[in-house]
Amino acid sequence: MTAGQALADGALALQAAHKESPFLDAGLLLAAAMGYSRDKLLASRSEQLPDYSLKTLRGYIDRRLSGEPVAYILGYKDFRHLRFFVDRRVLVPRPETEHLVELVLEMLPARDVLAGGAPIRHHDAFAGCGCVGLSIAHERPDVKVSLSDASGDALDVLSENAKLLDTARPGGAVQWSLGSVLSAAAAPLDGISANPPYVSSSFVDEMDTQGNKEPRMALDGGSDGLDLYPLIAAQALPLLKHGGFLALEIGDEQGDAVSRILAAAGFSGIRVIQDLAAQDRVVCGVKP
Ligand SMILES: C[S@@+](CC[C@H](N)C(=O)[O-])C[C@H]1O[C@@H](n2cnc3c(N)ncnc32)[C@H](O)[C@@H]1O
Repeated sequence: MTAGQALADGALALQAAHKESPFLDAGLLLAAAMGYSRDKLLASRSEQLPDYSLKTLRGYIDRRLSGEPVAYILGYKDFRHLRFFVDRRVLVPRPETEHLVELVLEMLPARDVLAGGAPIRHHDAFAGCGCVGLSIAHERPDVKVSLSDASGDALDVLSENAKLLDTARPGGAVQWSLGSVLSAAAAPLDGISANPPYVSSSFVDEMDTQGNKEPRMALDGGSDGLDLYPLIAAQALPLLKHGGFLALEIGDEQGDAVSRILAAAGFSGIRVIQDLAAQDRVVCGVKP
């Protein structure tokens, strides 16, 4: 069988099972099974597929058909400029979370060029594989970044990524620790980011019955998905410097509710940022 035929077979099997982006996914899985880049795969469609690659591809397609995300099968997910190792212990980073990183990069104070100024400090809570906090650390090497998560499993994945991405820098490496909500964060902070679980429990139940493989702890935000936001807002305020900011990813119907939660906690300058699909995605507030 040629690579092109294997690609078509794989894509048709995924399409028949109503998987999203069947052709893209089959291409990624076939490239991984052959040990090729996707570009090399496109130029090799007439090549005969060795038996071991075909067997590997069929195993990958079966895993995808059983509901496993492509990122778990490949063992990585690309996010902004970096590649993150992921497995079943963490949520797969979503492209829309890149808006949270963009907002943090926009809000963080500019680098203090005068020697002796206080270091700029940022904390990313609910860190998962580290895609938000480690991206910020990578793009702002002058900022001291700390990360935390309540899952020891997630922190193990995060620590692999911190080592792989070599986030050590002059003035100290990125730090991470176990802790619920913001209990592991230390004042004074210039910024706090978080992508907490915000899916309603009933919707996660439905996802589970359809074969969801991501950790329930990374998704389930309680009956309306909003359980954690009041806690985050209350704990963030005393940790932030005056003028410091809190940036939170939200579900697309949670913009008004989370804005009200931030206002009630004492934040000002509250704004909602939309994603590329024009859905509310990030809420941000400033400590007066
Ligand atoms: C939606 S995932 C976000 C992961 C990552 N920041 C991302 O954007 O892909 C939420 C994360 O919050 C963690 N988590 C759940 N409940 C928590 C809590 N009460 N305190 C701290 N972290 C929690 C989960 O382990 C999970 O890694």
